[in-house]
Amino acid sequence: MWVSRLALRDFRSYDALDLDLEPGVTAFVAPNGWGKTNLVESIGYLSRLRSHRVSQDLPLVRAGCEEAVVSARAHRGRRHVTAEVTIRAKGANRARINRTGVRVREILGLVPCVVFAPEDLGLVKGDPGERRDWLDSLLVARSPRYAGVLADADRALRQRNALLKNLRQRPDPGLEGTLDIWDRAFAEAAAALVTGRRRLLGDLEKHIAGHFSQLAADARESRRSAAAEYSSRIDYGSVDFSGEDARERTTEVVLEALASRRRKEIDRGLTLVGPQRDDVLLGIGGAPAKGYASHGESWSLALALQLAGWDLLREDSGDPDDQPILVLDDVFAELDSGRRARLAQTVAQAEQVLITAAVGSEVPEELTGAVVDLTGIARPL
Ligand SMILES: Nc1ncnc2c1ncn2[C@@H]1O[C@H](COP(=O)(O)OP(=O)(O)O)[C@@H](O)[C@H]1O
Ligand SMILES: [Mg+2]
Repeated sequence: MWVSRLALRDFRSYDALDLDLEPGVTAFVAPNGWGKTNLVESIGYLSRLRSHRVSQDLPLVRAGCEEAVVSARAHRGRRHVTAEVTIRAKGANRARINRTGVRVREILGLVPCVVFAPEDLGLVKGDPGERRDWLDSLLVARSPRYAGVLADADRALRQRNALLKNLRQRPDPGLEGTLDIWDRAFAEAAAALVTGRRRLLGDLEKHIAGHFSQLAADARESRRSAAAEYSSRIDYGSVDFSGEDARERTTEVVLEALASRRRKEIDRGLTLVGPQRDDVLLGIGGAPAKGYASHGESWSLALALQLAGWDLLREDSGDPDDQPILVLDDVFAELDSGRRARLAQTVAQAEQVLITAAVGSEVPEELTGAVVDLTGIARPL
């Protein structure tokens, strides 16, 4: 997969940008603040309908404008498609495929892309929410129907929380009866999401371990294996998440967990268990990564998580030549020379690699390709 043409209108700092791209490596070089991240963020957004650095869409629309447009012509073998999304400051976003209007979610999967960014260190060192977002984003990239599952889970959670908050302020047996309906809606959505996440993590495991040891600084480090395990406050005990009845079984377990916490949840006015509270426990050599791993090891693990996602998207396509685009936003500057070189070797296999760097010398020698001086096409602010 590669993008031959990227067009931006009022996206972030760009009023209008029309960029021709080649397969292989392209490095965008410019001092800080010139719009390097903005540029690659646009492709990441088109790929997953979410930014890798903000959870809301509004900052993506150029200040003072009503909407931003990101459009890319993507090539897969001899076929190509033009995917376009309009991000609106007010109102629902819109999408077009080959100039024909489609439901926004139909864009998902058309331009597969994995973005590496300095923020990725937060996957190892940050809060559970960062790991959940990473997992959910990959889940949607692999199977776009999970965009609906996520939206259902979020809606059910918000409605249940609103009801719990009401009940805390004003006990009302009649109203409490309606909680049963929301318990079921929440449990079903939660079960679909938790099952999807667990299966995904199961598929990722060996890839994470493999990339971690490949990126390791030395033999000692590579012997310490990396692990990623789903963690939840709900005890799912005997549920076999690969089984056919996994969703039904999980729904029942969530319902039991809600029932046993009902008084506590009403007292707190909040849903206390479920996928919104889950985490991925990362470990290196049997110890938790967070708080134990060195800076270099933490980076290896963060990169291994993203590379593992890239592996799965490649495997899913069934065609070894059809690879998601790799974006490396200001990442090499964060790494020591060994990890930099080993990461470069791995990413060099991708059909298209887009790199940003403040200075050309940050781009590893292993990656030869085009260098685009953004100061020639973007405007400083
Ligand atoms: N919605 C927006 N409207 C206008 N300018 C924006 C918007 N979002 C970000 N910017 C500007 O983009 C610049 C940062 O661009 P960025 O791509 O992060 O730079 P870098 O080259 O360092 O990666 C900042 O000066 C910021 O003010
Ligand atoms: Mg940047």
